[in-house]
Amino acid sequence: MIEEIRKKYFPMQLPDGVEARSVTSEVATDVMRLLWHSIFPDDKNIKYFRTVKERMAKQEALWKLHNTIHHERIVFYNKDKKPIGWIFGDMEDYMTFYLRLFGLLPEYRRKKIFSTFQSAFFEYLKEVGYERVAAHHHINNRAVLISQLKAGYGIVGFEVDERFGLLAKVLHFLHEDRRRGYEKVFSLPRDPIC
Ligand SMILES: CC(C)(COP(=O)(O)OP(=O)(O)OC[C@H]1O[C@@H](n2cnc3c(N)ncnc32)[C@H](O)[C@@H]1OP(=O)(O)O)[C@@H](O)C(=O)NCCC(=O)NCCS
Repeated sequence: MIEEIRKKYFPMQLPDGVEARSVTSEVATDVMRLLWHSIFPDDKNIKYFRTVKERMAKQEALWKLHNTIHHERIVFYNKDKKPIGWIFGDMEDYMTFYLRLFGLLPEYRRKKIFSTFQSAFFEYLKEVGYERVAAHHHINNRAVLISQLKAGYGIVGFEVDERFGLLAKVLHFLHEDRRRGYEKVFSLPRDPIC
């Protein structure tokens, strides 16, 4: 069922002649490796905890098992068919899609590529049946937090993670009634800009 719905949305045309394509995990991983340091140049200066080599083989086996649930691997290509970014995401639970990792090369940012993609992606996830979209971000990643708040996400929590440090959890409701439920349960006044 998901494959049929995916075909309606991908390949997806985005601003600046960029095309988003649904790809295999292998292709997405190669693109991620190729672009990682250009998209996250500060990454090497951060002392993240990383799994030690001796435990990697088992971790990779579990990663493959995890990949058998619904996941999306999207690569963004420019007019010359060169990869310029990617999005990885997976089913978090039966109603929540988790956006795990995404980014664009610096020269392709602020062109509405991500916001245009995200609006269409929400429609796709809604048609598949999801109700919520979640993500975690470093609390000082202004670009992603602002772009996601603008797209309707709310901050629903903070997490102290041994791998990535302090993270804000953001959540977007794909249906208006669920959003109203969120406002009601916390007696929140309606956000005037969304
Ligand atoms: C986060 C990211 C994907 C946003 O993509 P993008 O295509 O540049 O975003 P958009 O052009 O759609 O921006 C939409 C809105 O978000 C806000 N925004 C985006 N980048 C911003 C920045 N650097 N500073 C402040 N606001 C920003 C703006 O309000 C923007 O609208 P505007 O341009 O009309 O002012 C991109 O900045 C990126 O690749 N960052 C590095 C990777 C990363 O941090 N990934 C997230 C963690 S996994």
